[in-house]
Amino acid sequence: MSLEVKKMRAVDLIQKKRDGLTLSTQEINWLIEGYAKGTVPDYQMSALAMAIYFKGMSTQETHDLTMAMVASGDQIDLSPIQGIKTDKHSTGGVGDKVTLILVPLVASFGVPVAKMSGRGLGHTGGTLDKLESIKGYQIERRQADFIKQVQEIGLSVIGQSDNLVKADKLLYALRDVTATVDIIPLIASSVMSKKIAAGADRILLDVTVGDGAFMKTLDDAEKLSRTMVALGREVDRQTIAVMTNMSQPLGQAIGNRLEVLEAVQIMQGQGRQDITDFICELAQIMLELADVEKSIKEIHEHLVNGQALQKFEEMVAYQGGDIEDIYRPSSAQFVTDIYAETSGYIAELPALEFGLFAMRLGAGRAVKTDALDYETGIVFAKKVGDSIAAGELVAQVYSNQILSEKMITDFKKNVKISKEQMRQNEILKIIR
Ligand code: URA
Repeated sequence: MSLEVKKMRAVDLIQKKRDGLTLSTQEINWLIEGYAKGTVPDYQMSALAMAIYFKGMSTQETHDLTMAMVASGDQIDLSPIQGIKTDKHSTGGVGDKVTLILVPLVASFGVPVAKMSGRGLGHTGGTLDKLESIKGYQIERRQADFIKQVQEIGLSVIGQSDNLVKADKLLYALRDVTATVDIIPLIASSVMSKKIAAGADRILLDVTVGDGAFMKTLDDAEKLSRTMVALGREVDRQTIAVMTNMSQPLGQAIGNRLEVLEAVQIMQGQGRQDITDFICELAQIMLELADVEKSIKEIHEHLVNGQALQKFEEMVAYQGGDIEDIYRPSSAQFVTDIYAETSGYIAELPALEFGLFAMRLGAGRAVKTDALDYETGIVFAKKVGDSIAAGELVAQVYSNQILSEKMITDFKKNVKISKEQMRQNEILKIIR
């Protein structure tokens, strides 16, 4: 009599996880393959995600989930590009224009960067939206053209192809509406599956920490960082995680057009020192990953003397964008100045609140299908730790509607001023 193999059923695997047991490699492969194919439905995947949320995953399960997700779609082969290919990923933030500056800066040292980016959702922005605010910029490229571009000019930032990590596309959308985003094994496998499938040899992770990030505490961010660095190592993709402050917006601008302009100004040497230094430090780590040793002084030179900007212009032009347009100020109809009511030092500018404020102006999406208004957003004249006098400018709000008194009051309420000066570091910890 032949031995009958018991057929796998999603319900049994959900129950297993719900009861705190460990799923095998085979079971995880079966679930993810079935989900990508449509044989495991959304409602069962939601239940599984919630069970994982409460019971967690072992290191082996997280690894298996990551690799099953990688296998669920296309994998990019970057081997035709010479040299060590580096990639960078941020776990999301407010005013995060790092990619726009870091990619051309690193490429200006001859290190190839082939990067796939995503869109913004909720209070967080997305690099693709920022790039699309540049007239003509094409984010969709055929794989062969993407590779050819990096071979020819050393850099490209495009949108993720539809079939890359298909399971993550489906699962991320599901997690977004089932309150299962902020759990370490699911974030780690989501991020690392995309990075592994995108083909780079070395990976820099910017793990944001604070009220504007998924990870609210340094402890959690460190756990996530260690998990992702280990996942990278297991598949021979050297990975470094840099935990960065997201308790206030990054830099001065929030909003697509405004952030492109700030990025350009930083590459013209006109940025605030804090963000300029931060970008130089990240670039040094990304270069280190590519086995290129450069001093902060050399990196700073490339950043402010036009070499990074030239690479950015080359990329924009190659991808069909209008170079002149990157220098264009926002065309928003209204610019509202916000002034301080008391004197002291800026103590808090909560990233989440200002991210949501900018979203309501049209700079971000409440739901995936929302259209964006690229011209709207906020530019801060002051950041945490800066001194401020009553009546001095704190920020300018760019909008295509007149701000109501309530909006102005709400804005001001979120600008916390104290008598004591507090400073915040941009880089909180590095995990290698
Ligand atoms: N970014 C991702 O790509 N995935 C997550 O799950 C969270 C942040």
